Amino acid sequence: MSQNIPPNDAVPTVAAISLFQDDLMQSLTIATSLQEIEALRIQVLGRQGTLTLRLKALSTLSPDERQTQGAALNHCRQTFMAALQSRKQSFEKQAMDEKLATEKIDISLPPAPLKNGHTHPFTETLWELTQTLVNMGFDVVDGPEIETAAYNFSALNIPDHHPARQDHDTFYLTEKDPSGAPYVLRTHTSPVQIRTLQNRTPPLRIISPGRTFRCDSDATHTPNFHQIEGLWIDKDVHMGHLKGCLADMLRHFFNKPDLEVRLRPSYFPFTEPSAEIDIGCRWEKGQLILGGKEEWLEILGCGMVHGKVLENCNIDPSVYQGFAFGFGVERMAMLKYGIPDLRSFYDGNPVWSQHYGFSAARAFSALDQ
Ligand code: PHE
Repeated sequence: MSQNIPPNDAVPTVAAISLFQDDLMQSLTIATSLQEIEALRIQVLGRQGTLTLRLKALSTLSPDERQTQGAALNHCRQTFMAALQSRKQSFEKQAMDEKLATEKIDISLPPAPLKNGHTHPFTETLWELTQTLVNMGFDVVDGPEIETAAYNFSALNIPDHHPARQDHDTFYLTEKDPSGAPYVLRTHTSPVQIRTLQNRTPPLRIISPGRTFRCDSDATHTPNFHQIEGLWIDKDVHMGHLKGCLADMLRHFFNKPDLEVRLRPSYFPFTEPSAEIDIGCRWEKGQLILGGKEEWLEILGCGMVHGKVLENCNIDPSVYQGFAFGFGVERMAMLKYGIPDLRSFYDGNPVWSQHYGFSAARAFSALDQ
């Protein structure tokens, strides 16, 4: 700082103030960084700053002197502050320009890849089971979801008084079929047995995966669910084929070659004899685990196709026999993948899908097998 201005604690003359001001301005001009500007501000306007002390010393002057020199000092202060502010801004702008130049965002970069979607565990299960059965020689056939009561019940030997026909189990439509009976949303895939037996000549081996409907809703039932129907008709098909075929399918699906499988006598109007297939399981730490045979879990319905069903389709039961089976696809998925609540299949919750779903790539490769 210039030597020809008086010491800090004395008020300089107006001329000296002018020199002091020039000096301050020059210091600002030669400052090369924001840090230097800040240091200068403290040196001039801080508590012991050169300008602060001089302003304080004004009180020692006579009123006249105070007026003229006070005005000059205040002018000096304002000029310095304004210049300081503008220098500061220009340094800040320069810093920002440099930052912008070095930190350029390259908007030509490709966006981050999208998160992959998932196939629903139901879809995966349907593919796995269909694939297994196709590998065993079954053809896949389709059937309508809106059925006549004749196909859904009568042709399957389900009598008029059977409880399954009642409203609490079956969704009836208001529209009527040509016979005058209301159409139904099929309650099982078994009517596809009839349609197949009417349209194909044995020997035949088909499965029919599809949507089915019942008035039911709790943790293990939803009004809409899916079944896979199976039908194998030939001249010499017997219960041994039934058991071998379904045991193989279950062991393959659950990936457990030693899975215990048992047939338990049951009743269906369209099979005789009829059976339920149970698979062996056990409790481990409060969880039901597949394997062993401490407990049995019912998994599907089956039996030898009833002679009346074959006759209803103009097939001679003394020449042809075979077996049929049907099971819920979601139930298989719940057991294999440990999904506790059937209703969650239809919630459309993406967090659930992330957890239980499968990578799409895996699903597509399954299709190629
Ligand atoms: N349709 C039966 C059901 O829905 C299952 C079944 C199919 C039983 C074929 C025997 C033969 O429960």
